[in-house]
Amino acid sequence: MEVIKYTFPPHGDDRGQLVAIEAGKDLPFEVKRVYYIYDTLAGVRRGFHAHRNLQQILVCVSGSCRIHLDDGHETAEVLLDKPTEGLYIANDMWREMYDFSEGAVLLVLASEYYDEADYIRNYDAFLQMIREKESQ
Ligand code: TYD
Repeated sequence: MEVIKYTFPPHGDDRGQLVAIEAGKDLPFEVKRVYYIYDTLAGVRRGFHAHRNLQQILVCVSGSCRIHLDDGHETAEVLLDKPTEGLYIANDMWREMYDFSEGAVLLVLASEYYDEADYIRNYDAFLQMIREKESQ
């Protein structure tokens, strides 16, 4: 599986670092929603879903975490530990987030508003959807 990462160069100087991400310039989609996950307890694994129509960029802006990706054929384990690095997740990708370090903050830029109907939360249903799309 091809893991797609974006790099956001920091504007660093002797005061520290600053990263700017501009919609329409630095991302492959227009951002409609931003959310972030923090205070995740050690050992927690979350996500366990795919989306039919949602692109996302995940940036671990503080600390680190790992993302398990599954496209129905292959899986990948991606370490996010840099505030300058964004993981792109396209439609139809099962994802789980785990190994959150203490103080980790996972920022998510999303192409659509929150829509519970867009979630596929059952892994077997996810595989079935992938197979159906491939047989079309
Ligand atoms: P949930 O989907 O369980 O998180 P994860 O991505 O780790 O599986 O979301 C947790 C709660 O937050 C759930 O009640 C839905 C709500 N939520 C929103 O209201 N808006 C959002 O944009 C997101 C991602 C979640």
